[in-house]
Order: sequence, then C-alpha cells, then structure tokens
Amino acid sequence: MKTRIYRPTPVNLKRLAAVLKRGDLVAVPTETVYGLAADATNQSACKKIFTAKNRPSEDPLIVHVHSLEQAHGLAQWNETAHQLADRFWPGPLTLVLPKKASVSDVITAGLDSVAIRMPSHPVFRSLLQTVKVPLAAPSANPFGYMSPTSSAHVKSGLDGKIPAILEGGQSAIGVESTILDIRNGESPVLLRPGGVTSTELRKILGDSLRLTKSVIPEGEAAIAPGMLKRHYSPKTSVTLYRSFPAELSEQEAWIHFHLRDSLQALPTNQCVLAPDNQGRTAANRLFSILRAVDSGGYPRINIQLVPETDAWADTINDRLQRAAAR
Ligand code: TXA
Ligand code: MG
Repeated sequence: MKTRIYRPTPVNLKRLAAVLKRGDLVAVPTETVYGLAADATNQSACKKIFTAKNRPSEDPLIVHVHSLEQAHGLAQWNETAHQLADRFWPGPLTLVLPKKASVSDVITAGLDSVAIRMPSHPVFRSLLQTVKVPLAAPSANPFGYMSPTSSAHVKSGLDGKIPAILEGGQSAIGVESTILDIRNGESPVLLRPGGVTSTELRKILGDSLRLTKSVIPEGEAAIAPGMLKRHYSPKTSVTLYRSFPAELSEQEAWIHFHLRDSLQALPTNQCVLAPDNQGRTAANRLFSILRAVDSGGYPRINIQLVPETDAWADTINDRLQRAAAR
C-alpha cells in the first residue's frame, strides 16, 4: 500500500472523508499528537487500526467528536462531565463515561465505558464536520513507540500500512490528552496526565480529583526503571535524573530540562528541552527531540526530569518514566 500525505484543501478533505466512509484509515492531525482514525460506526474499519499499529485488541480507543450532540449519542452523561466539556472542549481532555449500546466492543475492548474527546485542531475539526460520523483514533504510532507530532513522524512509523495522512503541521501541544474517568461525577479519577494540567482540572473539580500518579523515589539521582509499563519509548535505553552529575560522558546523549547558562553552544550529544524554562515548551518539543536523539546511535539517553514545581511536571515526567521503563 502506498502512503500519501494530503494537504488540507477542501477537495482533499472530501476525498479523505470518502476514504473513511468506505472503511479505510486516515492519519489525522490533532492539537495533542497525530491520530490514526477510522469511522467509529464501522467495526471492521476500527479493527484495521489494531492491525496497522500492531496494537493489542484489549487496549480501547478514544472516540473523537465534532459536536456535543455526537458525544451525547455515545455515552451517559452526568453534571460534572457537562461542566468539564463546557470548560475544556474542544481541547486536550478525554472523558471516560458509561457507554451507550451503539458503541462497538472493538472500540471499548469490551468495557462498559467509552473514552470521548472533542479535538480543537481546525483541520481535524473540518474533517469531522465533513465525514459526519465520530472517528475512533489512537495515537498514530506503532504500538509502544512514541506518539507522532508531525506528518513526517507518522510516515516514518506507518509507511505502507495506511493509505493516507492528512497534513496539519506540528502538533501545538505535543503530548497526548489528559484522560479522566468521570463515570462517577462525584469521584473523578485521573487515568493519564496530559494536555490539561491537574491544576486546571482542580479549578472545576476541587479536591474530589483522585490521582493515579506514580511516585518518584525521593533522594535517588538516577530513577530505577521498571516502575511503570514501558510505553512511549525510544529504542535506546533511557535513564532519568533529578539533576545531572558534574561530568557528562561524551559517548551518551544528555537531555537537559533547562540550562541557566545556555548561551554557549552545547556539544552535539547534549540538548535542552525547555530553553525558556517552561514545562509547556518541554511538552511541545519532547517527542521530536526524543525521536531525533533516538536515531543518533547513542548507547544510552540520559534525561533530566521536570522540576515538580512546574504545572507540566506530572504530564512530562509520566512520559519520561514510561520511556525509561524496561
Ligand atoms: O491526545 C490523545 O489522546 C491522542 C489523540 C489522537 O487524540 N490519542 C491517544 O490515544 O493518545 P491512545 O490510544 O494512544 O491512548 C488512549 C488511551 C489508551 O491508553 C486507552 O487504554 C485509554 O485511552 N482508554 C480508551 N478507552 C478507555 C476506557 N473506556 N477506559 C479507560 N481507558 C480508556
Ligand atoms: Mg498511544
């Protein structure tokens, strides 16, 4: 199969809506990361996602909607979920709610809940509006590898396995959506930290928000890997640090969060995630930098964790710990 990249012209949007309606896959840009989309009302189309990504069928998919009306058709809503959608949609928040019978088991992996998100990327929104059905889409990477934040990333991972990629530029946020289990409106559970920070969620949810946050052992320079399921991973092995040692080996790669004195040029085996010391910037650059360093032929990638005072620390350090897990 030849994989083509389509510019987001009105003609191409119609063409790709037709590709989806006939049951084929299209990789789509979102504000978080690129997704691999199928018509959520077509079971055999959704099955193709698992084959293309080599994804286990027990791992459920997020359904993307254009309107609240579509979202209401998929799940049983409660008052808290309405408030959250009001505040954060369209945007990087995924809500897990009790599913309605019409949602296929292929999407939910047999669960009685469904994950729903209304994306804000204008190109993806145009496609959703044109195709008129909700689109199931996981991140558009081979299972276990890092999520793509550009069409070139998608092509490098899925070339020959999907017919089409819709061009939408670099993903503005650069990490996946926040996933919130809101089946019980009174006790929401954060399933994955992401593009909406827990600080922002708390403004709506207060202290009712329960975190499933992983704890980094205090007082250890290098964090022992293996605490979390390996995911979002480079091929090179990753070691995490709160702060780097004074001597940095020239053979290995070193990714700083921030360098106070970064005016002088760094050696090629070193780079900085957030030149402006902002977690938001680190999130935006994380997967691109990891991909570039991963193909640099280093025996090890060393990465500095984001200081916990930064609102994005949960989101980024979660991805870093998964990347380091073996
Ligand atoms: O930003 C994002 O969320 C991107 C873009 C494309 O929207 N999508 C994404 O999808 O990251 P994926 O499949 O890579 O991650 C979705 C996660 C999976 O880990 C899956 O287990 C979880 O969502 N999930 C899906 N349905 C669920 C459900 N009913 N209950 C709990 N978790 C669910
Ligand atoms: Mg994924």
